[in-house]
Amino acid sequence: MNKENTGQGSATGKIILMGEHSVVYGEPAIAFPFRETAITVNVTPDTDMYLDCLYFSGKLIKAPKHLESIRSVIYQTLKELNHSEALLHIVINSTIPAERGMGSSAATAVAVVRALHDYFGVPCPSENLLPLVNLAEKIAHGNPSGIDAAATSGDQPIYFIKGQALEVFPMNLTNSYLIVADTGIKGQTRAAVSDVARLFEQDKKTAALHISTLGQLTVQAKTAILADDAYRLGQIMTEAQAHLTALTVSNDKLDQLIQAALSANALGAKLTGGGRGGCMIALADSKAAAQTIAAAIKDAGANACWIQSLEVNN
Ligand code: PMV
Repeated sequence: MNKENTGQGSATGKIILMGEHSVVYGEPAIAFPFRETAITVNVTPDTDMYLDCLYFSGKLIKAPKHLESIRSVIYQTLKELNHSEALLHIVINSTIPAERGMGSSAATAVAVVRALHDYFGVPCPSENLLPLVNLAEKIAHGNPSGIDAAATSGDQPIYFIKGQALEVFPMNLTNSYLIVADTGIKGQTRAAVSDVARLFEQDKKTAALHISTLGQLTVQAKTAILADDAYRLGQIMTEAQAHLTALTVSNDKLDQLIQAALSANALGAKLTGGGRGGCMIALADSKAAAQTIAAAIKDAGANACWIQSLEVNN
């Protein structure tokens, strides 16, 4: 145990700029930590294992089924730390909306694993952290690429390819702002990922073409970002949305908000994350334009809207 007798861990939300779904099939994706939303976990000693979060407060053993991934990651982490017998009170505080494509399940697991390591005074490098988080993600999502675990645990944009070493990515676009909007509808990552897999079984050629095109668009997005070309990036985002729609992972509300953003002169717009609800993103070339687009998206029925600069020094 560390000398304070408490453990703390934190993580941020994440936004996938390009490459959701295709990343599951080995194509690249670009994601970054979304600091507007975050999670903190505090661990203190107790007389039993207790969990306190927005959805549940009580003995860990009694936690509902939808918190199974968190319960499992707690037990597995304690096992790996050789403290399976520990009796702890784990408090989770989060401003990351759940099931909105912002990686809340991965971020929760990241913060929990970090807090438990901190409590026992054990360092938690990514080699130890990521396998534990991916175990929780497997329970939550079925077949995770690992991008959420990587993006919510780091502090830099990443260029991610499943199974490969992480590449930090210098996202630095002059005068570029990303508008992130919540549809207010729970995303359905697990169902969307398995429906894309089903499309593969039904019509492999068509599904594979959409997936590989999404991969190529991600490579082109990387080139556009490195060339500081927000206009091209915007076009690529809108093009990606067409392929995500063809893969059946968009929905009416996402389409509505994306259309509202484009009508308000966004450079591009698409869904982000698992889709079927959750969040959409739009690109703007000035803060004033971002505010106009955000207002239009809100008018079209968005639940919440955030604006993030894509300029590193801002
Ligand atoms: O909905 P989220 O934030 O969990 O993002 C899922 C991203 C997918 O590419 C659809 C799945 C994955 O594991 O990469």
